[in-house]
Amino acid sequence: MATLYGLGVGPGDPDLITLKALKILQAAPVIAYPATTSGESMARNIAAAHIPEGRTELPFAIDIRTAHDANEERYDIAARDIAKHLTAGRDVAVLCEGDPFLYGSFMYLFARLAEDWPVVIVPGISSLNAAAAALARPLVAGNETLTLIPATLPEDQLAARLQSCEAAAILKVGRHLPKLKRALAAAGLLERADYIERIGFPEQRRFKVTDLAEDAAPYFSIVLVRRADEAIR
Ligand SMILES: C[S@@+](CC[C@H](N)C(=O)[O-])C[C@H]1O[C@@H](n2cnc3c(N)ncnc32)[C@H](O)[C@@H]1O
Repeated sequence: MATLYGLGVGPGDPDLITLKALKILQAAPVIAYPATTSGESMARNIAAAHIPEGRTELPFAIDIRTAHDANEERYDIAARDIAKHLTAGRDVAVLCEGDPFLYGSFMYLFARLAEDWPVVIVPGISSLNAAAAALARPLVAGNETLTLIPATLPEDQLAARLQSCEAAAILKVGRHLPKLKRALAAAGLLERADYIERIGFPEQRRFKVTDLAEDAAPYFSIVLVRRADEAIR
């Protein structure tokens, strides 16, 4: 029986792929990946150097600007296309930016296919791990807890989560940056927050959030904050 693989390919730097994901990627006859509605694929761009020639490629379009519900039909179609290859006995490797199960679109394919097919998930280095490394700042230490927050939340919820956090990683910043800045200020964390965009790409940029002049950020951006440094002194 053919196998469906969910391969974490890391957040940007092509070298940040695991040996396990690399071996599976290089052996898989069919390689699927999410793309934007205009055809851009972050996951494929990251893994491009590792994809052997002559493989069948199966991009599936997802509208990342809309809620998950709006993409239900797109995932149905992608799952059907993948199942055709699996039925024909061909393994399918789905490329996943970062880690497949951290806000990854692979989970929606997994939900549609895992009952009928063997699935192997290979974890990837996530954007928050890459952000901590690129910013050279620890995520959490000692007994601290880490709160993972999507900036897409309404402002009052963002502020409430930040107010109660010891350390936080805020993903999906993009057009939510002005709202996030206000929520960080309300939580007394604005001066402690670091911003980084396009980690692992030549265009990577980083700022203290207080030095960030722009009020819009690219979708691939992340903010890290810790309330105190004591735990690692
Ligand atoms: C849908 S989530 C996918 C997360 C991904 N599966 C992971 O493990 O990091 C997309 C968000 O991850 C963050 N992200 C992913 N890759 C990034 C990168 N190279 N640079 C900055 N942020 C990134 C951004 O906050 C972006 O909005």
